[in-house]
Amino acid sequence: MCGIVGYIGNKNTKEILLEGLKELEYRGYDSAGIAVLQGENFESFKAVGKLVNLEEKTKNFVTQNFAVGIGHTRWATHGKPTELNAHPHLGESSYVVHNGIIENYAELKKELMREGVTFLSQTDTEVIVHQFEKNLKTHATPFEAFSQTIKELKGAYAILLVTKSKSDSIFFAKHGSPMIIGKNSENEKYFASSDTPLIGHCSDVNYFEDGDFGYVNLSEIVIVDKEGSKKQPHFSKLSTNKLSAQKDGFRFFMEKEIYEQSVVIADTLMGRLSESAVLFDELDTSLFNGINEIKLCACGTSYHSALSASYLFERYAKIKTSVEVASEFRYRQPIMTKDTLFVVISQSGETADTLETLKMAKEAGLKTLVICNVDNSSMVRLADASILTRAGIEKGVASTKAFATQVTVFWMLTLFVAKLKNSLASGEIARQIALLREIPSSVKVTDSMHEKIKRLSKRYLHGHGFFFIGRDIFYPLALEGALKLKEISYLHAEGYPSGEMKHGPIALADPELFTIALLPQYLLYEKAKSNVEELSARDSTICVISAIEFDKADDFIQISACRDYMLEFFEMMVVVQLLSLEISIRLGNDVDMPRNLAKSVTVE
Ligand code: G6P
Repeated sequence: MCGIVGYIGNKNTKEILLEGLKELEYRGYDSAGIAVLQGENFESFKAVGKLVNLEEKTKNFVTQNFAVGIGHTRWATHGKPTELNAHPHLGESSYVVHNGIIENYAELKKELMREGVTFLSQTDTEVIVHQFEKNLKTHATPFEAFSQTIKELKGAYAILLVTKSKSDSIFFAKHGSPMIIGKNSENEKYFASSDTPLIGHCSDVNYFEDGDFGYVNLSEIVIVDKEGSKKQPHFSKLSTNKLSAQKDGFRFFMEKEIYEQSVVIADTLMGRLSESAVLFDELDTSLFNGINEIKLCACGTSYHSALSASYLFERYAKIKTSVEVASEFRYRQPIMTKDTLFVVISQSGETADTLETLKMAKEAGLKTLVICNVDNSSMVRLADASILTRAGIEKGVASTKAFATQVTVFWMLTLFVAKLKNSLASGEIARQIALLREIPSSVKVTDSMHEKIKRLSKRYLHGHGFFFIGRDIFYPLALEGALKLKEISYLHAEGYPSGEMKHGPIALADPELFTIALLPQYLLYEKAKSNVEELSARDSTICVISAIEFDKADDFIQISACRDYMLEFFEMMVVVQLLSLEISIRLGNDVDMPRNLAKSVTVE
């Protein structure tokens, strides 16, 4: 998602900030900005789109001698990607950049506006700088004002703030979003959201912990922890390899993205849940007026998340739901009625087939909604409404965290619609909201799980094919598991409904046929188990993924005993992703850039 850089020193601050932002481009962004304080002079520049636009705007701006500077690449969440919404945000004499989400920004903003503060942007971030300046008036030092401000913020953040009231320093705070400080023998100080901008500039780095805040100047690094005690930084040596730094030590981006799912799902949920309701500020409830049916349309992995959603919409929101493969839908002269909400799902927002179906639905006068990971993409611009998945940029061609956040959004949307339609008891909605909050811990990869999958992957490199099988919502997950494996291992794999195997595919069963069976404890366990037994009786090689031990399997991957089948869904999702990853690595394939595939398919 967003990226942050900061610099204190005597070198060319502008260039250092711009270079640092370039190193963070891989995180994805749609606008960028910098602010530099040289003595009493503040200069700030912002631009929408790529960094070349910011470079162009700053080309006549010269920085020499001592300066403090902060920079930011923004991935829009609150408010469109406009120049006004781009960071840094200005108060009277301070600038702030921020990653994350300030959950209580609306309350703080209301109070500040009541006191006469004018806001220029729609962002949650802007409250930080105004709240700081308000506190500056009532506190003895800028640091006390900053500490007070941090105490008043709820949510997740990495924050850098520069102020004329202490023009030799950068104030920082970290809670839930990454932030690092680096130093070198020339006494310069660098901040960044990840290692990469610091490589080549710093010899040592300190990774801030959640709750840390403080300030830094040429001679001091003052860190206060979440208990309010001062602490010493723990500097460690910085790697010199940029690509591996971007991968955070993982072998492939896909692996990193699988591990990231816990964090990005937390981002997806952030600010969107109360105790009893799902809150989508971006949705006007009138979108659902007169709607009797939902039609979901997508390609590839996004199609699988749509299929998963159809089970949830019908079961909980009690609304008729159908799912379409976009490339089929666009040519089959479909009947479209105006009581249908047309929903497209796309990680990129640019997939040609999906985009075309959106245009068709608009032409037919249907209401439209897009679930997307990229703000300002073609689909987001075209649809009547959009929900962003907040997965951050996904580099691995085989989609993992984008899928995870899509399903999360769909589960939330189901409850949102269920509440509107009164189709689910309020107690049940509250129960499911509590479950939603558990997804980030359900998808955490444990060492033991990963080790086990790594080990058993060696048995699945040959054979004449894979069947991933599941029932109900675990059927789309089986499809997704098979797609992942196909994409990166080039082995033949199919997803199949467990109950359908006996109607044909079981003819293939022999020891060289590998069956990956999804057996959730809380959904049709006995039925799905019988289907696996049928395959086992025909000597198929079986790997069962379940919380309950299964003695007829050749391999067994145990997930934890979750409280609900949806949490089992998310845990099993991680297992099938890791299994594909490990098989592909053993086969020596290029996991991140599999042959013949493209990340975003903008042709028919
Ligand atoms: C390509 C990618 C898939 C992706 C599909 C749909 O085929 O390789 O990973 O699922 O496009 O992309 P979208 O951006 O619309 O989700």
